[in-house]
Amino acid sequence: MQKLIDTIRRREARCGIIGLGYVGLPLALEFARAGLHTVGIDVDPAKVDAITAGRSYITDVHDAEIKEQVDAGRFRATTDFAVIAELDTINICVPTPLRKTKDPDLTYVVAAVNEIRRYLRRGQLVILESTTYPGTTEEVVQPTLESGGLEVGRDFWLAFSPERIDPGNARFNTRNIPKVVGGVTPHCTAVAAALYEQSVETVVPVSSPRVAEMVKLLENTFRSVNIGLVNEVALMCHALGLNVWEVIEAAKTKPFGFMAFYPGPGLGGHCIPIDPFYLSWKAKMNGFEPRFIELAGHINEGMPRFVVEKVTDALNRHRKSVRGARIHVLGVAYKAGVNDVRESPALSVMRILAEKGAELSYSDPYVPAIREDGFELDASPLENGSLGNIDCVVVLTDHREFDYDRVVKTAPLVVDTRNALRGLEGDHIVRL
Ligand SMILES: NC(=O)c1ccc[n+]([C@@H]2O[C@H](COP(=O)([O-])OP(=O)(O)OC[C@H]3O[C@@H](n4cnc5c(N)ncnc54)[C@H](O)[C@@H]3O)[C@@H](O)[C@H]2O)c1
Repeated sequence: MQKLIDTIRRREARCGIIGLGYVGLPLALEFARAGLHTVGIDVDPAKVDAITAGRSYITDVHDAEIKEQVDAGRFRATTDFAVIAELDTINICVPTPLRKTKDPDLTYVVAAVNEIRRYLRRGQLVILESTTYPGTTEEVVQPTLESGGLEVGRDFWLAFSPERIDPGNARFNTRNIPKVVGGVTPHCTAVAAALYEQSVETVVPVSSPRVAEMVKLLENTFRSVNIGLVNEVALMCHALGLNVWEVIEAAKTKPFGFMAFYPGPGLGGHCIPIDPFYLSWKAKMNGFEPRFIELAGHINEGMPRFVVEKVTDALNRHRKSVRGARIHVLGVAYKAGVNDVRESPALSVMRILAEKGAELSYSDPYVPAIREDGFELDASPLENGSLGNIDCVVVLTDHREFDYDRVVKTAPLVVDTRNALRGLEGDHIVRL
């Protein structure tokens, strides 16, 4: 154990990151910046080619950051898993989606672990970072890695460390977000902590991988449940004729005991709509019926339909039906400032509007085209006069790049689901 810790501290460790997406690429760059020799392994050759060419495919990462590390010889990418044999540490950052039944889909984790198992040798450290249910590291990863005869805590080290990155967040990043680490044995925790200490400001050791897995799910369940609560409050305010945004702004002046969450068209991204169901599934497997998770999921998943109802009512007041209406969507990414449309509620709203016969167009400075969910749409830029022949604009993602003032001046009707039009007035504005 001490040998690997010393190698890491001398910055002589060779580190591998499996999965170079929103989580893996920033982590790999942080390791490389710390002076660790880092290799990224991804099954997607397009990502490997982009990195080799010093090109980023993630909003928060600039081309120059990749190029600097690649040119310095500290970072490279490959599709060849055989490189694992030469590595000292391996971080797994592959997707953990849900199946249609809302059961965990560990296919990507299992595939990555099987590859590691082929090349695993004495003295290596393996860390799972993909969000997953409590028990995955010890019940799924450990048995596979040990099936070749090596033993965890004696021959190799294994830990779980949840990734807490928040894409689009200018203040908190891989470096300054504290890193929770739980190893299968205390030695595993010590080696994993030593690795992160090279590139992350604060490391928080916990007693086991299960605790570390649960920490991440508590954090994201907390968000999902609070967003569910505030979405329900938005529905209540609608019924009571109150402006939910004004209520939240005033409530948040309380200096203790209240934390502001905001309603919207629904949950999106690869975390909040998914992770709580990993916990829910595991709880049910153990005979526990979680209620908050299911209820929040139910309310949050109903928000796109509520938005469509708002659009329908607004058009109705203008003597128009959704069928045939020209509806322009502002923002399709799941949140402001990112190019990620995974699970984006905008796609759900657009799908329902399309099913009702609306003619859809959209603008999004981060998403030039949508080629999923049955859509084949290219973004149209917001130019002077471009909203002239539109019946209704729906703000679904509050990107800062939009000129909301001009939108309000040129569109006949605007439905705002994000309070992007705060401070702007007009009879033709409909707020969530
Ligand atoms: N995106 C976020 O904001 C965020 C934040 C915290 C945690 N997470 C968690 O981190 C994990 C990764 O999420 P992400 O957003 O980076 O996903 P992503 O889809 O952006 O990236 C995953 C990468 O893994 C690659 N991959 C898939 N299978 C592979 C395999 N077998 N071997 C090698 N590469 C493989 C894919 O090609 C892709 O490049 C998930 O568990 C997610 O829940 C994500």
